[in-house]
Formats: sequence, structure tokens, C-alpha cells
Amino acid sequence: MKKLNRRDFIKGAAVLSGAAVCGAANTAIASETEPEAGQAKGDIPALPWGYKELDPEYVRKLGHLGYYLEECGGGCFWAIMTALKEKVGYPYTQIPLPTPEQFIEFLKNPESKEHYQVPMQYGVGGVANFGSLCGAPNGAASAITYAMPFDQAKEIIPRLLRYYEVETFPTDESNKYAVNGEFLVPKMKSSKALLQSASDSVLCHVSVGKWCEKSGYASGSKERSERCGRITGDIAAMAVKMMNASMKGELESVFPMKLSQETAGCRSCHSKGEKFESGQFTRGFMDCGSCHDVKMEPHKGTNKLQTAYGADVGTWAGAAVVGTIAGIGAHAVNKRITKGKDDEE
Ligand code: HEC
Ligand code: HEC
Repeated sequence: MKKLNRRDFIKGAAVLSGAAVCGAANTAIASETEPEAGQAKGDIPALPWGYKELDPEYVRKLGHLGYYLEECGGGCFWAIMTALKEKVGYPYTQIPLPTPEQFIEFLKNPESKEHYQVPMQYGVGGVANFGSLCGAPNGAASAITYAMPFDQAKEIIPRLLRYYEVETFPTDESNKYAVNGEFLVPKMKSSKALLQSASDSVLCHVSVGKWCEKSGYASGSKERSERCGRITGDIAAMAVKMMNASMKGELESVFPMKLSQETAGCRSCHSKGEKFESGQFTRGFMDCGSCHDVKMEPHKGTNKLQTAYGADVGTWAGAAVVGTIAGIGAHAVNKRITKGKDDEE
């Protein structure tokens, strides 16, 4: 197999199954859990804490607001948990989370701001700015795990990740709220309708990179940050839509769990299993083609990057490489290219 062109090999193998359909979960769960007599002692009850239908559009706006203070991971978690706290009450009241009013107040007076640390805040920038899994689905997955039995959560979470791969973010809804001034933040980082792009990947690194490449905005720009704020809202909203549907046993109707043909094909051999020799030495559902392709050689070929202002950065990138070779180091040149800030939100 090593000598074969991968794609030709796959075509020949004729093993494409098209879709992997997960059964819809339909377990309804009780909410409104008050501490029972025997439980007492101020103990917080065991998970899950239950779910009640939420309004996805309200949660989309909360997610966007949450991002402004807690970024993608903390913001998405905060949005869903806050909506649950408002709707279900105890035990969601036990998680240390500021209220939306407190958030808005902080944003109005950044000087007086005492920054709250919230759970899942570490999700920022693909886990503490490492660029791996985007914080929005990470934060949402955590909130889902508070609300739902894990059998139900694990039907929803991979679906949310798949949605993340294929959706063109920011969604029309988010762009519309931004343009019409319907978001909850006192002052927008940008109220333009931002370029929409799909990343084919759940990685922060790829998602941000592809969007920056297409839009011409640097990763440290306020537009890129605003984009991630809208995505945080979009993912929080979709998580809620999926939870609402899951409660009714209609998960498949919100977003069908359909892998790309290519990924389904790869997985016919490369899935988690015991047959090492047939390819079962790996696992996972990520879109295989986003990495296993021929295009990964860095700094070769023609440069297709542009800035938001239409300038070609090819010359600068070339200068960075030359700078490194000459022992100057790419950093000085890079600084000139990006003019980016160091805050990696
Ligand atoms: C018909 C079964 C089958 C399918 C379908 C298949 N593979 Fe493989 N793959 C194998 C086997 C068996 C090996 C180990 C033996 C080898 O390398 O030839 C392997 C090895 C690999 C390796 C590691 C070694 C190498 O050659 O790079 C990668 C990476 C890989 N496959 C990726 C993919 C991807 C991506 C797809 C889908 C586009 C895919 N494979 C589809 C069976 C398959
Ligand atoms: C985010 C990028 C990325 C995605 C998405 C991805 N892979 Fe990989 N994969 C890698 C890297 C990097 C390696 C290690 C390559 C190496 O060591 O040469 C690897 C290795 C492999 C290998 C060789 C054995 C191993 O585990 O090291 C196989 C087989 C493989 N991938 C199959 C797949 C399949 C099938 C999918 C889709 C379900 C997939 N990969 C999705 C990046 C990715």
C-alpha cells in the first residue's frame, strides 16, 4: 500500500459506506432536582443535572457576550450553563458563574473590571492557546455533560464537532445580529458582516488559519476575534438545538451525522478495532482529508496569502525566510507583518 497513491487505492477498494448514522437518543430526564432529605449536607448532586428546552437564539447571544470576557471555551460553557441556571435553577446555581448583567457591567467599565475565572476558560485558542481543539465545542461539550446522561451526550458531541467542520462560520444569524446591533455587548469589536468559511477541521489552528487566509485579516486583528466571538455563539446555539432535539428523540433531524465520503472510506479500514493488519491502529472521526493530503509542504509554491487591504504578503514572507537563513531570525520580520497583539483570545 505504501507505494500506491492513497486516493486511487481507496477508489479501488470500493468500501465507501457514505454515512455513519447514530441512533437518536430519546431519554428524557427529570430536572428541577432539589436536594433530597438523605442527600443534604450541602452536597452537590451527582451528574447529570437535567435539561429543560432552551431558546437557541438567546443562547447564541449569550455565547457572543461570554466570549468577550471568557473567550471561546469559557464563553460557550458560560452561555449554556447560564441559560440552564436561569431555566432550571438548582443545582446549576452552584457553579461559580457571573450573571449576564455583571458581564455587561464589566464591559462598560473595563478599568474597574475584576476578571472572573470560569470553568472551561482554558479552552481558549485550542486549549490555553495551543491551537488544538477549538474552545467553543470544547466548552459546549462540557456543559452538555452536566445536563445529559453520557449516553445521550456522546450522541450529541461528535455531531457538534462534525457541524463545526462543515458549517461556514460565522453563520448568517450571527452576521445579521452583528449588522443589526442585536448582540448583547455594549460595544462590538466589529459590526461588519464577516467573511464566512468552513474549516474542515475542529482545530483552532486550522479554523483560524483558513479564515485569516481567506479574509486577509491577521490572527491578532479585532475582526478575527469578533469572528471567534460569533462562532462561540453559533456553537452554543447549535449545542442547544441538538439538546432540545435529543430530548424529543429527533437529534438526526437537526443535523444528520454524516461523515465525508472520503472519511467514511478511510474508516472502513482505519477505525478503532482489533485487526491491526487491516488498518485498525488508529481511531477517530475527524475529516481525514484535511490533513492526509499532498498540500502540507510549508513555504513552497506560489503564495496565495493577502491582507485585508489587498496587499500581497509574499515578499514579506520571503523576507522572513531569508532573514532566518541569514541568522537574523524570523521574529523581527514577523512583527512587521502582523502588527498583531499578543493577546491570544
Ligand atoms: C482498504 C483498507 C484501507 C483503506 C480504505 C485506507 N487505508 Fe490507510 N492503511 C491501510 C493499511 C492496511 C495500512 C498499513 C499498511 C500500509 O501502510 O500499507 C494503512 C496505512 C495508512 C497510513 C500510514 C502509512 C502510510 O502509508 O502513510 C496512513 C497515514 C493511512 N493509511 C491513511 C489512510 C487514509 C487517510 C485513508 C482514507 C483516505 C486510508 N488510509 C484508507 C488500509 C486502508
Ligand atoms: C489534524 C490532522 C489529521 C487528521 C484530521 C487525521 N490525521 Fe491521521 N495522522 C496525522 C498525523 C500528523 C499523523 C502522523 C503522521 C506521521 O507520523 O507521519 C497521522 C497518522 C495516521 C496514520 C498512521 C498511523 C498512526 O496512527 O500514526 C493513519 C492510518 C491515519 N493517520 C489515518 C487517519 C484517518 C483514517 C483519519 C480520518 C478518520 C485521519 N488520519 C485524520 C494527522 C491527521
